[in-house]
Amino acid sequence: MADRTTTWLGLTLTSPIVVSASPISKDVGAVAEAVAAGAGAVVMASLFEEQITNDQMALHRYFDALSDADAESASLRRADLFPVDGGPHLAHLTALRKRVSVPVVASLNGTTPGGWTSYAKRLEDAGASAIELNLYDVVTSVEETSVVVEGRQLEVVRAVVDAVKVPVNVKVGPFYSALPAFAHQLERQGALGLTVFNRFYQPDVSLETLDVDRHVTLSTSAELPLRLHALALLSPCVALSLGCTGGVHTGRDAAKAILCGAHVVQVASVLLAKGPGHVATLVAELVAWLDEQGYASVAEARGLLDVRSVPDPHAYERLNYAKMLDGWAPVR
Ligand SMILES: Cc1cc2nc3c(=O)[nH]c(=O)nc-3n(C[C@H](O)[C@H](O)[C@H](O)COP(=O)(O)O)c2cc1C
Repeated sequence: MADRTTTWLGLTLTSPIVVSASPISKDVGAVAEAVAAGAGAVVMASLFEEQITNDQMALHRYFDALSDADAESASLRRADLFPVDGGPHLAHLTALRKRVSVPVVASLNGTTPGGWTSYAKRLEDAGASAIELNLYDVVTSVEETSVVVEGRQLEVVRAVVDAVKVPVNVKVGPFYSALPAFAHQLERQGALGLTVFNRFYQPDVSLETLDVDRHVTLSTSAELPLRLHALALLSPCVALSLGCTGGVHTGRDAAKAILCGAHVVQVASVLLAKGPGHVATLVAELVAWLDEQGYASVAEARGLLDVRSVPDPHAYERLNYAKMLDGWAPVR
């Protein structure tokens, strides 16, 4: 039977199926079930920049309101008074570490440089095996160019990397005009991994209420090819560990991501829909496919269809796009 171990961020994982940041990772029992079913690691749900900075602001406001004498005695109790929203988060990290033996990755979600990034150190001290930094950015200003936005994001990455000794993985959305160059910059800032692609919260509009229709929809496998394309392009040009998130619903989807260069697949939707124990099916399907194809390990299959290795590299490129469009004719 094929060896399903993989390496990711310098860690050796028993399987490339990773529980992605999601409500699953908020539930210790669900995580334990996913790990028992074969998950190689778990990424915690994110702690948001806004949560950390709001708590820091609350602390400042509190001390501003006190007299000096009060402040002195209160400062002794500040940890109890303001466990900082991270308190429960750190406790959850400890609980996960106690319950499962696979690496637990803590996740921070933010986009502006600032004191909040030092929180990464607290997560490391609490036992996180790595930090995932989700650069979920919604740019609304006409003043901010992509150069400014990316520069700011790289500053955040550098701050988190500088704050910890554990590896840092960066999770990004699909909207970069020059992803290979950005990935290269991430590497230069000291990140060890890159996960593509975060799914954006995409509010719909309601024609009935004439309001924004807020809901999160789960992915389908139809979202995978966007990731496969990015992985295939990135795999030869960076030394980063590559993660695939978005649209992995079967072991065969995972196999496709691995062929395009992924070290791990980070799954949320399929586990939310089918339960954490469904990891066992994903692993079994992946191993069955590796065996069918005669690959001895995940490592042997990894990257075999990246842009460097595929027999027709143009299949990933613009030239092929032009050819494909030509193949269509209108229905009559
Ligand atoms: C309900 C829900 C909550 C999520 N929470 C987080 C989060 O806290 N941090 C994060 O980085 N990603 C979060 N994600 C994104 C997932 O980790 C994952 O990257 C994304 O859903 C794509 O994978 P999928 O197609 O398997 O769902 C969340 C996704 C869902 C559906």
